[in-house]
Amino acid sequence: MSEHGSKAATADAAHAGETRRDFIHIAAATVAAGGVAAVAWPFVQQLAPAADTRAASTAEVDVSKVPEGSEIRVLIGGLPFFIRHRTPVEIARAKADDHAQLRDPATDDSRLHKMLDGKLNPAILVTSGTCTHLGCVPVGPAQGNTGDFGGWYCPCHGSHYDTSGRIRKGPAPKNLAIPKYDYTSATMIKISL
Ligand code: FES
Repeated sequence: MSEHGSKAATADAAHAGETRRDFIHIAAATVAAGGVAAVAWPFVQQLAPAADTRAASTAEVDVSKVPEGSEIRVLIGGLPFFIRHRTPVEIARAKADDHAQLRDPATDDSRLHKMLDGKLNPAILVTSGTCTHLGCVPVGPAQGNTGDFGGWYCPCHGSHYDTSGRIRKGPAPKNLAIPKYDYTSATMIKISL
């Protein structure tokens, strides 16, 4: 295992309890193993991920397979990440709120990464799935609860995130983090720890 992988596995130990409880669904068909990354977490009841899953430090996702208006969730090194295919209404809502009273100010564009052609793809939002309060995994469209601002809701203590993953209400201090990721083709992204 690489040094990076070891750190990820350590982080996994800290988050595994919350993650197991809160992770509901993953569209595994959209996720490809990248390097040692073997990411598959189909059911909340799944027990401890295999050692190679804990060690994973990257995952490749075919974003064309994410249904509009929904998301998929992947685990990398035991940490959750969301890949959301936003609707035009959700995108417009995110842009409209760029200048709202934001606890952790950031424009929606600043939270997107460029595709290979240098353009942004506002339909696809990639965020960490770890609430910035105490580390629960928020629920979202797949669980039928997107909170008061249409993004995600963390039921642990009531944090609401908007359609850009920005914190809007509740105790969480920061936006959902944007992970390191790159487009490797028009439809594939590679997320790295
Ligand atoms: S961990 Fe999310 S609101 Fe407390």
